[in-house]
Amino acid sequence: MIKKLSIVALLFAVIGSAVFWVLTLPNNMQPNELAAFPDGDADAGETMFWAGGCASCHAAKGATGDAKLVLSGGVELKTPFGTFYAPNLSQDQQNGIGGWSLGQFANAMKRGVSPQGEHYYPAFPYTSYTRMTDKDVADLYAYIKTLPKDATSSKPHEIGFPFNIRRGLGLWKKLYLDSAPVIAVEDGNAQLVRGRYLVEGPAHCGACHTPRNLIGGPDIKKWLAGGPAAEGTGSIPNITAHASGLGGWSAEEIADSLKTGFTPEFDSFGSSMADVQENMAKLSDEDRAAIAVYLKTIPAVESSVKN
Ligand code: HEC
Ligand code: HEC
Repeated sequence: MIKKLSIVALLFAVIGSAVFWVLTLPNNMQPNELAAFPDGDADAGETMFWAGGCASCHAAKGATGDAKLVLSGGVELKTPFGTFYAPNLSQDQQNGIGGWSLGQFANAMKRGVSPQGEHYYPAFPYTSYTRMTDKDVADLYAYIKTLPKDATSSKPHEIGFPFNIRRGLGLWKKLYLDSAPVIAVEDGNAQLVRGRYLVEGPAHCGACHTPRNLIGGPDIKKWLAGGPAAEGTGSIPNITAHASGLGGWSAEEIADSLKTGFTPEFDSFGSSMADVQENMAKLSDEDRAAIAVYLKTIPAVESSVKN
């Protein structure tokens, strides 16, 4: 009897790990999808570089001016799961991504999969970048190719069991990696569609402004409604049009604040938003206006934390 039971248990364990294996397989782009990628244009890619905030994490901590273009990595990201370090993203062959093909870059950005076929942690906001168009990814790749090499080696993350097992992220991605838009908007409104694209895609505003559940998945019902900060202290404000968020700001005021760094009350943006704003200042007036219109259009949700 005992023997029979242990055989059954063993069988379940084998089936269980086979299911785990299949469910957590990396979902790479197929060669035909990659072959359809357009050629990148480095000038256009610069806009995506700032919209995407790549330098905020991948340049050295505290870098300003041209030093932001040296993507040596090292910025530390504290989360409830441990501390992540943004890796070297420079053109160095050994320590950076100088040797990567466009296909490898696209799989990282849109599927969260490394050239070795491992899952990336969503501390790298690919759950937003997955919504980027192939053209914008190709342009961004072309732009990053023009940036300098740096030989700094990437720091290993500091995360404990079970989160240190990358394979398990495959299950998480089944739940939360989705390239479909979050908010339905009228297709005919080009400004709104552009604003949605920037906010939900490259600019990844939701990565900070949408609260997360216990396993780090975004709480879509509270899309952009703010919540506790990931690093465990302080909170992130609501940027929906609810009275507890940006209800009192006009679309022009929102667009203006992203350009100048001053809120309508002449406060300046603090903490990580100061850096986001510097990036937003590099976009066009049209793009900032589109972001503002989207924020004023999406469902107004009450804050779960006090601003
Ligand atoms: C919020 C911080 C953050 C931002 C913003 C960010 N990244 Fe990253 N990125 C990370 C982290 C953390 C990792 C490591 C993920 C891992 O090890 O699983 C990473 C990994 C990567 C990798 C894989 C590198 C490797 O050596 O395997 C690529 C490629 C990448 N990021 C590109 C970008 C690009 C392009 C942008 C801008 C559009 C960007 N990242 C913006 C945090 C960030
Ligand atoms: C890296 C995290 C992060 C990202 C990404 C981010 N924000 Fe913020 N944002 C913050 C923090 C933190 C604050 C609070 C700043 C402060 O305390 O001054 C903030 C504040 C704001 C405010 C001011 C709200 C108020 O009530 O004063 C606006 C508007 C805003 N963000 C818009 C955006 C938009 C639009 C995006 C996407 C383009 C974005 N943020 C992306 C972290 C982020």
